[in-house]
Amino acid sequence: MPVILAIESSCDETSVAICNNDKITANVIANQTIHQNYGGVIPELASRVHQQNIVPVVHQALKDAGVTRSDLSAVAFTQGPGLLGSLLVGVSFAKSFALALSLPLISVNHMQAHILAHFIDEPKPSFPFLCLTVSGGHTQIVLVSSHFDMEIVGETLDDAAGEAFDKTAKILNLPYPGGPLIDKHARTGNPLAYKFGEPQIKDLDYSFSGLKTSILYFIRDQEKADPEFTVRNLDDICASVQYSIINILLNKLKKAAKQYGIKEIAIAGGVSANSGLRGALQETATELGWNIYIPAFQYCTDNAGMIAIAAHYKYLKQDFVGQDVAPLARMEF
Ligand code: KG4
Ligand code: ZN
Repeated sequence: MPVILAIESSCDETSVAICNNDKITANVIANQTIHQNYGGVIPELASRVHQQNIVPVVHQALKDAGVTRSDLSAVAFTQGPGLLGSLLVGVSFAKSFALALSLPLISVNHMQAHILAHFIDEPKPSFPFLCLTVSGGHTQIVLVSSHFDMEIVGETLDDAAGEAFDKTAKILNLPYPGGPLIDKHARTGNPLAYKFGEPQIKDLDYSFSGLKTSILYFIRDQEKADPEFTVRNLDDICASVQYSIINILLNKLKKAAKQYGIKEIAIAGGVSANSGLRGALQETATELGWNIYIPAFQYCTDNAGMIAIAAHYKYLKQDFVGQDVAPLARMEF
């Protein structure tokens, strides 16, 4: 019955979770609000806040799970991809903690962990399944054949879906991170009020930079004629932009499902918290007979729970790393 302490520090959340056998018994997340002043994550500030947060967050996670350091079987951490300085805090802490307690170390790929978050709660997807992983840095369609046998079959050529939300929010003068706010305004807006084109990208790949530019020009043109345009129509604009992003995401996901003949479909990553995407996926599932898997909210955006469950499956394979392990800003599966 392994008890694993897992650390996530790839971006702007300092998170520590405990996985007791395959159950997440603590998942503490310290958000960094400092970046709101800048409209995006400032890497140097993020790593400094991780340094301040890491020890209290570890203590809180142990307390929440009702375990002590001597109960632990292994220490896990996000190795990458992510911001190097932020990753370094988690990796360094994990290494020294493991060394001091003579525990094995487990390295976890953050993008794989977003997908493996589906193995925290029931119902769990069966293999093979397709996972649309949509976060602030990535947009991928992944063919998942087993816990660690994953193949990216489509991905964004430029901006990620989360970036499309965040950059649109910036254009609309909404604070960072913009995704949750666009989601909130979209609930009371008309998704068909304004139309933004769908990019013509080959195969299962995505592109979101054109959408961002067309929104920028649209708002600029409208505000020339009516300076109050954005303020008065914010809900409709948010609903229309969100509708476009969801359409782009789901059209390629439908294409992938057809191409691979797979009806087990999951979504993961920060954007999978979007209520419009969750609803649209449910409608598509009814229409096409898919079995869909949507993570609980606390496991959508960055959290150590997903790192801990990934580490649990690595522990079962005794897949450990040495003290010479280093963080990786870019990391393949
Ligand atoms: O997975 P995540 O927490 O961090 C990365 O690994 O990047 O994803 C963060 C992204 C941000 O772009 C944020 O705006 C977006 O997820 N996001 C949302 C929502 N909640 C978070 N986007 C749309 N609707 C939401 N409700
Ligand atoms: Zn993430």
